[in-house]
Amino acid sequence: MIMAMAGSAVGLGNIWRFPYMVGEHGGAAFIIIYIICCLLVSLPVFFAEATIGKATRKDTFGAMEAIAPDGRFKNVGYIAIVSSFIILSFYSVVGGWSFDYLLRSCAGGFSGKSITEAREVFAGMGSSVLENVGCMLVFLGLTAGIVAGGVEKGIGLFSKISMPVLLVMMIVIASVSLTLPGSKEGVAYLVRPDFSKLNGAAIAAALGQSFFSLSLGVGTILTYSSYMHEDEGIIAAGSWTAFFDTCFALIAGFAIMPAVFAAGIEPSAGPSLVFETLPVIFSRMGVVLPVVFFLAILIAALSSSISLLEVVVAWLVEQKHTTRPRAALLVFVFAAVLGTACALVPKVFNTCDFISSNVLMMAGALIFSMIVGWIMPRETVLQHIRSRFIYGLIRYAAPVMIVAIAVTNLL
Ligand code: TRP
Repeated sequence: MIMAMAGSAVGLGNIWRFPYMVGEHGGAAFIIIYIICCLLVSLPVFFAEATIGKATRKDTFGAMEAIAPDGRFKNVGYIAIVSSFIILSFYSVVGGWSFDYLLRSCAGGFSGKSITEAREVFAGMGSSVLENVGCMLVFLGLTAGIVAGGVEKGIGLFSKISMPVLLVMMIVIASVSLTLPGSKEGVAYLVRPDFSKLNGAAIAAALGQSFFSLSLGVGTILTYSSYMHEDEGIIAAGSWTAFFDTCFALIAGFAIMPAVFAAGIEPSAGPSLVFETLPVIFSRMGVVLPVVFFLAILIAALSSSISLLEVVVAWLVEQKHTTRPRAALLVFVFAAVLGTACALVPKVFNTCDFISSNVLMMAGALIFSMIVGWIMPRETVLQHIRSRFIYGLIRYAAPVMIVAIAVTNLL
């Protein structure tokens, strides 16, 4: 399951969000804060969520019932399942774009194009209902297909194959990117620490990013942990996932920023970078590189989306006694509806993104750590965590930091 957890963590968050945030918030200074947030808050939350899953061996809803048979936490289970579903829906839209761009790159669609023309392609895709919705459905269909294949033979197998392949692909892209003339400035952009940009907002951004990147707060880690083998340790699983996830984000940074600077382009935000600038830059180096790049994004997105869909499927299978393939189909149909709305109406997309990342995930992370720190019997927790120090972080540091960040965000 550790590979599957790493697969869930490594995703679109690493490839387009992390590199851009590093640049925005002071380069290496942000990376240092990100790692500190990861160690002191996100990892403890990961351990907490995993403890709930491994101790109860149930889906998110079942786990909440097992911990409080009086039904106190019933709604927490429901909220987590709904949150995963919402994230899955808008995530599939971006996953669909990567599939679309993979096809376009295979056909050599970006060679000889200028950035302005690539921008028109991106805008045109948004207005083409068939293309936008169609690609989203293909992506969602692939996701549901892997999940329908089962925990071991679908999710586990896909993660075991895709993670090493993905790592190799990204290292290849980073190597090419770093050898381009003029790429040095991109490296400087990532490694030059600018402590003057470090403020409350930067810390909040680092924490939010590390929650999103480690897939916390909505039951994905909980659900995957419920499938862990007895001899797979929670501390090892969390540490490996966080290590792999952070390395991957850094490699993605070194794959993207040097190429952007080498082409003399301002590193602008998020999707526009990956879907407007990079296809053009990479196409100048032949047909193969953009294909590898978009294939990598597609694989990274798929290994994350399956973890989101699995949360809902696990609930349907364990609580509603549906068969796995039927559950996967059902989630596919519902997510296709919300996904279509996200694909066609930017406001729906942004609202789903905002509510899930800023409200639901934070609330979930807070509640999971409070349950493990204050509700579950101390001995049970220590059996899984085996460290009083980490137990202390779950009990005090994580909740305090999450509340502090939430308050800062509101102000
Ligand atoms: N971590 C993934 C990424 O970085 C996305 C993801 C998967 C996720 N499961 C999640 C985000 C659960 C939040 C919650 O792209």
